[in-house]
Amino acid sequence: MEKTVQLYEGKAKKVFATNDENLCIVSYKDDATAFNGLKKGTIMGKGAINNRVTNHLMKLLEKNGIPTHFVEELSDRETVVKKVSIVPLEVIVRNIAAGSLAKRLGLSEGTKMSRTVLEFCYKDDALGDPMVNDYHILAMGFATEEELKLISDYSLKINKILSDYLKDVNIELIDFKLEFGKTSDGTIVLADEISPDTCRFWDSTTGEKLDKDRFRRDLGGVEDAYNEILKRLLGE
Ligand code: C5P
Repeated sequence: MEKTVQLYEGKAKKVFATNDENLCIVSYKDDATAFNGLKKGTIMGKGAINNRVTNHLMKLLEKNGIPTHFVEELSDRETVVKKVSIVPLEVIVRNIAAGSLAKRLGLSEGTKMSRTVLEFCYKDDALGDPMVNDYHILAMGFATEEELKLISDYSLKINKILSDYLKDVNIELIDFKLEFGKTSDGTIVLADEISPDTCRFWDSTTGEKLDKDRFRRDLGGVEDAYNEILKRLLGE
């Protein structure tokens, strides 16, 4: 497998084409941004941790019937994935009120909700990823009705698999963001990453935040939190 041209550079990852037209290589960076790029920094070792945690969780999901883009971990920071066109939606799954939902609805963080909440945002940096509903998604053609149904069903199933798994290592899955992609034959697969950058992980006993909120909110102990997640999930 050989990297060829760089296809994309995002805030936390680069994506390269390869000599196989159906495969790409993702390379994870230590760069950290928050608030749509307004806050910038570096979290030492983050790229390697997010790569390994993502792959670990993608393998768990595959084993439980969720199709993903994961193919093979190449190194600490690099992974081979299926080439997909990204569905331009961020799917946010929420179990406990936190972050923007807590703010929007005037709830204190940590408020339990009687059921899981799914939100969709249109992936557009210039617009600040605005929240959209099913009507917007269908009217704008971001996804078809069948795709939206599949994406919603997968997201709720992923929530159940990850929440149960994380409970065993004393982590509560508060909320997280997913992205899906379409392979060349039109199959919808889970893409992007599942890491402390994209999930809120709270210690089940102490409520300590073990995720990117430590960076966003200047809480300190950012690297320690990412290392703690790696340790609890991969035993390292
Ligand atoms: O900020 P907010 O409360 O809406 O974030 C909800 C969840 O989605 C958090 O776990 C956050 O890490 C994740 N998220 C993300 N990328 C974004 C927006 C939110 O990973 N662009």
